[in-house]
Amino acid sequence: MSKLPKRYTITAALPYTNGPIHIGHLAGVYVPADIYVRYLRLKNRDVAFICGSDEHGVAIDIKAKKEKKTPKQIIDHYDQIIRKSFDDFGISFDNYSRTSRKVHHKTASDIFTKLHEKSKFTIKETKQLYDPEARAFLADRFVVGKCPICQNEEAYGDQCESCGSSLNATDLISPKSKLSGSKPILKKTKHWFLPLDQYEDFIKDWILKQHKKDWKSNVYGQVKSWVDNGLQSRAVTRDLDWGIPVPVEGGEGKVLYVWFDAPIGYISSTKEWAKKKNIDWKPYWKSQDTKLVHFIGKDNIVFHCIIFPIILKNAGSYILPENVPANEFLNLEGNKISTSNNWAVWLHEFLEEFTDKQDVLRYTLTANAPETKDNDFTWKEFQTRNNSELVAIFGNFINRVMVLTHKYYEGKVPKAGSLNKIDQEVVTSLKTFPLKLEKEIEEFHFRAYSQELMNLARLGNKYLADQEPWKLINEDPERVKTIINTALQIAVSLTVLSEPLLPFTAIKMKSMLNIDLSWDEVSTFKNPLIIEGKLLRKPELLFTKIDDDMIKIQLEKLKFYT
Ligand code: 2FM
Ligand code: ZN
Repeated sequence: MSKLPKRYTITAALPYTNGPIHIGHLAGVYVPADIYVRYLRLKNRDVAFICGSDEHGVAIDIKAKKEKKTPKQIIDHYDQIIRKSFDDFGISFDNYSRTSRKVHHKTASDIFTKLHEKSKFTIKETKQLYDPEARAFLADRFVVGKCPICQNEEAYGDQCESCGSSLNATDLISPKSKLSGSKPILKKTKHWFLPLDQYEDFIKDWILKQHKKDWKSNVYGQVKSWVDNGLQSRAVTRDLDWGIPVPVEGGEGKVLYVWFDAPIGYISSTKEWAKKKNIDWKPYWKSQDTKLVHFIGKDNIVFHCIIFPIILKNAGSYILPENVPANEFLNLEGNKISTSNNWAVWLHEFLEEFTDKQDVLRYTLTANAPETKDNDFTWKEFQTRNNSELVAIFGNFINRVMVLTHKYYEGKVPKAGSLNKIDQEVVTSLKTFPLKLEKEIEEFHFRAYSQELMNLARLGNKYLADQEPWKLINEDPERVKTIINTALQIAVSLTVLSEPLLPFTAIKMKSMLNIDLSWDEVSTFKNPLIIEGKLLRKPELLFTKIDDDMIKIQLEKLKFYT
């Protein structure tokens, strides 16, 4: 479609390593990012697909304290599980790092120091809650007390989960420290602040003016509302003992705020990758011919569209993201996915029951992705998408054409005779698909891409069903050759164009059809996509039905936990 830039740096939000990942993560961030990247690779672009574990922050510290473990034990445990889930679902990162690694500590410390030396921070003394017994300043989540709005006794220092109000720790009635149970006192402490208010014009010009048309409206709208409400100075250091030590004078005993260091993790992960490949990392972050795209969930918008760009701008010669296609949230069976209530479908558990159905999940989550509003995942829909679309249309078409080629021609692609009007119409329609699909992918419309892809399978399925080659094989064998040859062209196109979404299935299809084509070869379609005489391998089933019992088990399992 459009002229694509030369080089891409594509990042996917670094997951916190305080729990495994679930379908909401996959639907919102990792599957869309992976589709985009696999598409770019099929277009022969130079891509760095970057991610890693987000291993600092107070949530990890709290979990460690609760489980009487060290933060390191917690992050090592979940990093393993998360890594494996990504691998199992075909999320094809070029590099998956960890923010606890040395390269990241150094990169984040250097950037902080640079900003400090350029006087980009304001240093302020504020009063914060302090636990005199544990001798520690208390991050918001370490303080609980009565919500001043709904009187819930267990509200946190930053939010009441009962009424949803966002709070300041000092608003709580009878606050208690989660560390020792004692009553916190207010004590003076010094912190480094990033004065976001000084960058309002920069954000207005860069996003609100220049990206009005090409950024998703949910992302644009959120940025606009932050700016309209007036940007506030934000502390980028914390009084905690888990994190990256503040590397400048006066920072003893303090660490960088996790949201200061985490996005820098994209840069350190790129450095780690480039080092392994023995190439220079800088073009991926500093060259004007690189397109940087951040895939994230909606709760990360302010950090990727306002705070991190301000850090990048001040750190010198970095490029800014060209797009931040954030998604909304995925619910599960009508309720918000919740780790603490175990209301989730965990990826590692999904695979225990649906061993070879990664692509079915990738497809379902994409067909119903929360692109413009929150959406709901139901097991019933998962079953229907599998049985009525992947099995009945996509799989059925490929299986039919494979089986017929073997049955009539011992697996060799037959020679097409002259195309009649119907064949010509089908081929004309087939040729329109690559362009339609690339437009959808390049505009981050992955739902539409998945549905167009299914339309292509429908085209093939309907062609075979209408032409009924099995009825003509005796009376008009030449006509059947043309039909099967034409159907095979559709099958090849479907294989290549579906690879970004269904990578596991595409491997099987490429092997059966004995092909390896790039996206552009399919898109230009100058020559037949598969030539006569080519020997196909034995057909294997791509998808199998999911019966009601399997769905019932999943629903029972959810009930069991609630
Ligand atoms: O929301 C989250 O899960 C964060 N760990 C995302 C971090 S994204 C980036 F900045 F690293
Ligand atoms: Zn409340």
